[in-house]
Amino acid sequence: MNQKVLAFLLPNFLFGMFLFGFFCKRQKNLTGVSPEPTENWLAIQSGRKNTLASVCLKNNLNKPRRELNSGVANQLFVEHKHKFIYCEVPKVGCSNWKRTIFLLQSDLNSEASEIEHDIIHHTSLIKRLASYPPALQQEFLSKYTKVMFTRHPLERLVSAYRDKLLHSEPFYSTTVANQIKAMFRKNKTSPGKVSFQEFVNFIIANQPHALDIHWKPMFLLCDPCNIHYDIMGKYETLGLDSGQVLKIIGAPEQLQYPSLKRYGSESRTNGYITLEYLRQLTSEQIEKIKKLYEMDFFLFNYTMKYEDYFSLNN
Ligand SMILES: *[C@@H]1O[C@H](CO)[C@@H](O)[C@H](O)[C@H]1NC(C)=O
Ligand SMILES: *[C@@H]1O[C@H](CO)[C@@H](O)[C@H](O)[C@H]1NC(C)=O
Ligand SMILES: *[C@@H]1O[C@H](CO)[C@@H](O)[C@H](O)[C@H]1NC(C)=O
Repeated sequence: MNQKVLAFLLPNFLFGMFLFGFFCKRQKNLTGVSPEPTENWLAIQSGRKNTLASVCLKNNLNKPRRELNSGVANQLFVEHKHKFIYCEVPKVGCSNWKRTIFLLQSDLNSEASEIEHDIIHHTSLIKRLASYPPALQQEFLSKYTKVMFTRHPLERLVSAYRDKLLHSEPFYSTTVANQIKAMFRKNKTSPGKVSFQEFVNFIIANQPHALDIHWKPMFLLCDPCNIHYDIMGKYETLGLDSGQVLKIIGAPEQLQYPSLKRYGSESRTNGYITLEYLRQLTSEQIEKIKKLYEMDFFLFNYTMKYEDYFSLNN
């Protein structure tokens, strides 16, 4: 190839690259910054809802009744300005959702990070559906956008153990821990934190309905077979799903779902950490724990073969 040809081709090539880059950017802006939920996201939503509906039907979980179960009404938070109802599932980004609800109703007067963790959980600044009379509860449920988030049941369990039993929150690290030690230790006053094995034995010794909300099966907390959630979010796609929820309810553009976590220096419970804990269990314990969370696996399409799940997600 002689130099003349090259001198002719090179500028053309560069100009082509320039046009190509320009075109790609345009395309990216058209699809990426779209104010509407993308088709792909909507397709995933309808997939989740279809799975849910068919598992509900198959297991006879649809129980139409007039009044809402009071335990469930207590998990639901209401935000009137944006006609929004959020079901609280602990260990699935709920502190940040409660902060967000607070900001939505207070016109963004304070930054999410300024709202202390304990305040957001103990405050009456945000309203539970249970605090309204039954007729109003039904009205809000029929008119508002209802949202629930789920997480892989075993990752949620490990996250609850790390958060409640390894840290020193008095109720859990003393009261609950002593209850567990009394059940499983010969020497009830022996020191040392409750192990993950002891924690799991304690959970499987209880009735699912009687479990603490941090480890109660998610479908019992939010009753998704009877409350028809408009959006089924997942912790695994928390940022994306939260962003779409905020768009759909018409939140102010500057409001973003925060990514704060409580113990800043510690890593979030992920698939790797979850597997480390699961390896401490016997196969019998694993079977029992899978049985306890069976409906959560089926309804929300999580795989029981946790090795597959966690290797996919890390
Ligand atoms: C993307 O498009 C919007 C209008 O649709 C425009 O306001 C914005 O500036 C564009 N962003 C970029 C990076 O080109
Ligand atoms: C269920 O989850 C699997 C991945 O574990 C995914 O490939 C499949 O599309 C999901 N099904 C629905 C209906 O969302
Ligand atoms: C139980 O453990 C405590 C703390 O280690 C110890 O002081 C006590 O003697 C133990 N009791 C028995 C019966 O071993």
